[in-house]
Amino acid sequence: MGSVTRDPDSGVWRVTSHGAAVQVLASPVWTTSRMVPEERHGRRRPFLSNVMLYAEPDLHRTLRSITGSVLSRDSVRSMVPAMQEIAGRNLPGSGCRTDSWDEFAERVPMELLGTLLGIDIGTCEQFAPHLNTLSAVLHGSGAVEAPASVRLALIKMVHFFMRLVKERSADPREDLVSRLLSSRLPSGEGMDPTHVVSTAILLFIAGQVTTAPVLRRVLPAPAGGSAGWDAVIEETLRLHPPQALAPRHALADTMVDGQSIERGSTILISLPDANRDAAVFSDPATFVPDRHPNSHLSFGFGRHYCLGAGVARQLVSVVLGVTRES
Ligand code: HEM
Repeated sequence: MGSVTRDPDSGVWRVTSHGAAVQVLASPVWTTSRMVPEERHGRRRPFLSNVMLYAEPDLHRTLRSITGSVLSRDSVRSMVPAMQEIAGRNLPGSGCRTDSWDEFAERVPMELLGTLLGIDIGTCEQFAPHLNTLSAVLHGSGAVEAPASVRLALIKMVHFFMRLVKERSADPREDLVSRLLSSRLPSGEGMDPTHVVSTAILLFIAGQVTTAPVLRRVLPAPAGGSAGWDAVIEETLRLHPPQALAPRHALADTMVDGQSIERGSTILISLPDANRDAAVFSDPATFVPDRHPNSHLSFGFGRHYCLGAGVARQLVSVVLGVTRES
């Protein structure tokens, strides 16, 4: 079977090789902006159309440049003390609220993102039970219909962030929301409050549900190989990508890996399959702690490459440092 196949029932294409995944993710023929999950009545969800991941190319470029500037390498470095403090305070058995490593893995990214965005922990906890479903809706292929309770949580979250953005517009602080509001591109372009709301929600959800499973996997890992913890983190990401699918829509008739695909088609890139492509990774099903090079696609590729990759890598690395010292 080839690396590009079509489900005969749904008509949706699926990509399983590394090369074809890179080809689709790098090509302007394939877009996310038609992938906004639809309401039952066929209406596009206005909130989701403003989310960077689904935005039309011009808006996407603006939102991505501004968000990228607040998540720059220097910004990530400046987050290290907060990461250390949160990890140290939440170590299981330290008299805090986490009783197990699983809870610890959930709580640390949530507290970090809450701190960065300027949200108190009580509010984070209120949204926590819905984050995985919200993420499936955000990253979905249109197939995930959120239950009423989750839709209500999303509405509450939007209202909460609208209030927060209003407060920070009037009274800026040292948090990401204030920085998103005040950042300008060299052209003078900034984000309007609606875009700050959708971006803050994307960061809160996308950052939490992806980083927690990596922490859960890496915490019990045996000591790093000769290449150290960074390589162990990359290999964990390769074998267990927290986000399995990257959906795209074809803007024109096109070819992928020798397969012709019609305009208007939907394609799902399977990141776990691409990461185990034997043409790129030797012994692909085996955890090789010092694998090098490791060109996994767990953070995506191309225009939508994960903007939080630096934050996630730094957080996992800091947490490993704190837990191994304890
Ligand atoms: C291990 C942790 C993480 C993984 C595996 C991950 C994975 C991904 C993937 C695969 C994409 C691309 C989706 C696509 O092309 O369809 C993505 C996009 C994105 N991620 Fe992450 N992510 C992680 C952590 C984070 C964190 C911590 C943040 C923010 C603090 C974040 C923010 C974003 C944003 C804003 C985008 C959209 C970028 C764009 O549309 O241009 N992610 N992530």
